[in-house]
Amino acid sequence: MSNRTVWWDAGKVAMIDQRLLPLDYRIAVFGTVAEVVFAIRDMVVRGAPAIGATAAYGMVIAGQASTAEDAGDLVQDLRRAKVELDAARPTAVNLVWATARLLDAAERLAQTGATADVIRAALLAEAGQLADEDVAVNRRIAHIGAEIIPDHAHILHHCNTGSLATVDYGTALGIVRASHEAGKDIHVWVDETRPRLQGARLTAWELMADGIPMHLIADNAAGLLMRQGKVDVVLFGADRVAANGDVANKIGSYKLAVLARENGIPCYSVAPTSTIDLDLPDGDAIPIEERGPEEVTMVGDVRIAPVNVPVYNPAFDVTPHRYLTGIITEQGICYPPFTTSLRRAVHAAARA
Ligand code: MRU
Repeated sequence: MSNRTVWWDAGKVAMIDQRLLPLDYRIAVFGTVAEVVFAIRDMVVRGAPAIGATAAYGMVIAGQASTAEDAGDLVQDLRRAKVELDAARPTAVNLVWATARLLDAAERLAQTGATADVIRAALLAEAGQLADEDVAVNRRIAHIGAEIIPDHAHILHHCNTGSLATVDYGTALGIVRASHEAGKDIHVWVDETRPRLQGARLTAWELMADGIPMHLIADNAAGLLMRQGKVDVVLFGADRVAANGDVANKIGSYKLAVLARENGIPCYSVAPTSTIDLDLPDGDAIPIEERGPEEVTMVGDVRIAPVNVPVYNPAFDVTPHRYLTGIITEQGICYPPFTTSLRRAVHAAARA
């Protein structure tokens, strides 16, 4: 299955509404910065690279909405929009990375004396390029990562890192997809991924569409399967990778990495270099998003916990780097010491 998750459509940003899948397939369209912030916050679109591409289009929308005739005034409006967009969700660094890229492009052009309208057109081109690059980067990641997937592998995968989490193809799930396309006999244990069920709703949907053998499992089944020798490799994505290789990803990833180590199973995080944040020395500095209680107390429209029960709902956890076998990027597989290998990957990406 190949489906763009987010794209530009006649002055607005269009996306698959991931809140409704797999029961309903609908396209949602947003035309103001406030609406784009809503789409990211409410998880109409989710997954670090997809959030980044959406925010980039949010900057294009901000440029179009600005009445500035002067390039300097337009840049001021874009700076304000960036602050608004960046606040939508705190953990995935791709969001601020993408808005910074768009703002930089505008600032550079303004310095060369470009008009506001030239900058507006350039912003749209830059966002389109960012989205296209994401697809190309995912394909490179998939090609590189497929090397560590042996024939007959049973892969345990957490959350959703597929087409839906990116602009297209996916990161960790892209590796699964590429391995299957290469003719390898593989099977995926799909963690349901409480509380938003990205695994049960989205990953299962993507894998079934591609005919990739899989079983959906309750998150709590992972330990048993590992102990029974039924898992050969654990793959998950990343929302932010600190300079030392600590990885923030969907809540539950840390538990899998520790279980994998205990059971002698390799565990990889998969991420484009745009997810690496060299400004943060370690995972303790990564902001962890806390989401609303209804994600835990409700399943769909059905309440499963007492009314007014106190809830703590962190959306991500941090896996200390020592539990990771490697971090797979489009610049190659980074191995320990991550401080060196991640820096090298980010610098190689900047030169590419
Ligand atoms: O809350 P979500 O669904 O946005 O969380 C997504 C994840 O944690 C993914 O694993 C991560 O963004 C990588 S997606 C390629």
